[in-house]
Amino acid sequence: MKYTIAVIPGDGIGPEVTNQAKKALDAVAEVYDHIFLYKEAQMGASAIEASGNPLPEETIEICKKADAILFGAIGDPKYDKDPSLKIRPEQGLLQLRKELDLFSNINPVKAYDQLIKNSPLRREIIKGTDILIFREITAGIYFGKKETSQDGKNAYDVCSYSVDEISRITHLAFKAAQGRKKKVTLIDKSNVLETSRLWRKTVTEISKEYKNVKLEYLYADNAAMKLILNPKKFDVILTENFIGDIISDEASVISGSIGLLASSSIGDQNALFAPVHGTFPEAKGKDIANPLASILSAALMLEHLGLHEEADAIERAVEKSLDLNITTEDIKGKNKYPAKTSKVGDFIADYILNQDDSNLNFINIHVGQSTII
Ligand code: IPM
Ligand code: MN
Repeated sequence: MKYTIAVIPGDGIGPEVTNQAKKALDAVAEVYDHIFLYKEAQMGASAIEASGNPLPEETIEICKKADAILFGAIGDPKYDKDPSLKIRPEQGLLQLRKELDLFSNINPVKAYDQLIKNSPLRREIIKGTDILIFREITAGIYFGKKETSQDGKNAYDVCSYSVDEISRITHLAFKAAQGRKKKVTLIDKSNVLETSRLWRKTVTEISKEYKNVKLEYLYADNAAMKLILNPKKFDVILTENFIGDIISDEASVISGSIGLLASSSIGDQNALFAPVHGTFPEAKGKDIANPLASILSAALMLEHLGLHEEADAIERAVEKSLDLNITTEDIKGKNKYPAKTSKVGDFIADYILNQDDSNLNFINIHVGQSTII
């Protein structure tokens, strides 16, 4: 089959890691006889440099026409240092979510056995963790009216949600729970916020349509604590935009490395796949960033396109790279010679092409040379 993929490398390490995902996809295309037609598009700081616009019209068009979108990372320290700047890289991503109505950010959090030693949490706490976070990302405080007063002494951000905006993601979360451990935890702050009370009411109502799924509620502060104390208790987490932003990053440490977490942002017409990590500006251009989250984003994308066997092939290759310690310096483990970003990408692509351990050239693996003979 032929698929058109919009590729938005973005900023910082975005381009380097996205290139490795493309290598994995090219290998999949060869083995399974597909054509992936990449349409590159700009967004974020790099787009501002090029055209003054964090989300050029052309990018929106390319994304709308594509079968799926593969995105790298967004942001630049230059903008972080100056909060007065009116045009900011992140606006590109927020506007793209809105334009394409990518309302549901779905974030799987799994403890990889090989990486448990990297987690700041104890093995017995995290082993077996398997959480799926559904975070609403097209409404809430991110998108409400915001203003700073003339004298600069006051500012506000409005948080607003409609029943429709809550309902559509709630249905997705409950449907996903039906195929898992049949539990949804709604995380909110309904002891304080009116929007949270609307979430509780709406979600409770909808839960009656899913009789085999158990619904639990947690306040966000308490949830932040429980997530670290006992992550295994969670199955599907459902939450609004701002709380979800924080909870997703918190949950990412459970896996042992944020460098492995991929997420999807799904709407009725379009879907975007991206690493959970950010731009890692210190590593930009050095070929040291971990490409696995981007590569796993490509796997999520294939899954979404219905290419399950192909997605599995990528996941198996990632597992193999972890088993063999062909990993970047952030998770190098016992390996004294961490692999470069591009080498990890080469290994993954080679493994997808061969899918056979007998071809592995173990002698060269740990000196970062060719890994497949
Ligand atoms: C994320 C990011 C974005 C967000 C930023 C870059 C606007 O942190 O995807 O979680 O806050 O949603
Ligand atoms: Mn975030």
